[in-house]
Amino acid sequence: MSATIIDGKAFAAVVRAQVATQVAAAKAATGQVPGLAVVLVGEDPASQVYVRNKNRQTVEVGMNSFEHKLAAETAEADLLALIAQLNADPAVDGILVQLPLPAHMNAEAVINAIDSAKDVDGFHIDNVGKLVTGQKAMVPCTPLGCLMLLRDTLGTLEGRDAVVIGRSNIVGKPMANLLLRDGCTVTVAHSRTANLPDVVRRADIVVAAVGRPEMVKGDWIKPGAVVIDVGINRVQPAGAEKAKLVGDCDFDSCAAVAGAITPVPGGVGPMTIACLLANTLTAFCRRHA
Ligand code: GUN
Repeated sequence: MSATIIDGKAFAAVVRAQVATQVAAAKAATGQVPGLAVVLVGEDPASQVYVRNKNRQTVEVGMNSFEHKLAAETAEADLLALIAQLNADPAVDGILVQLPLPAHMNAEAVINAIDSAKDVDGFHIDNVGKLVTGQKAMVPCTPLGCLMLLRDTLGTLEGRDAVVIGRSNIVGKPMANLLLRDGCTVTVAHSRTANLPDVVRRADIVVAAVGRPEMVKGDWIKPGAVVIDVGINRVQPAGAEKAKLVGDCDFDSCAAVAGAITPVPGGVGPMTIACLLANTLTAFCRRHA
């Protein structure tokens, strides 16, 4: 193996420590601490794990955590009423509605009901528009975490060829816009892209966010490229008792060619919550400026 392993777990711990220091300073100056409200509708097991981790880490950095669990059959109007209440609550600086929402709800309408200044996910249409046009925005947490790891690994990103695999609103599209803002030449590839291996082979930076286990192979990677693997896929290896987590990249073959690569787990994953806490602190600071 030749690649440097990018330790997202350690980097996220540093980000959280910085947030904790600033929360303590804000408390000393204003007597108040940032508050993050997390809303979970239904009982999706993966979402329950994320929400539990979010709440624990929010408290660990000294912020207030407000958890709202609603039944899967909750009416959309009741969720919108809760969001209106959180928008008006001065103790709440950040609001996150965990996705996916149950099928009977209109996720777009729900997200756009959040006060855009409290939209710590960066999914509100005002924040999306600000990011695309280069204005000060709340930036989605996972792409922001990827950007931090890339800048830490490469220094400036200016002039690099970047390929983002995946065009979701949560990762692919905001990632592409962040890379563009940093001066990369960006290609957004996806499930319909022709000759995907050839497209990826051009890239100095590969961000894989397709949700297909171990799809990206080592012979797709330009020697020395930096590979950021956003995938978290649970697979059951033949003959193995326990399921294991793998990324969207075939780690061993990619690590043999790449200059640096994030592992799964322990790469991008921990950065998402660290960036959520950083965004909540940012929202608090803007409101108290
Ligand atoms: N579900 C999976 N990732 C995310 C995320 O970053 N934010 C929210 N709200 N829901 C998610």
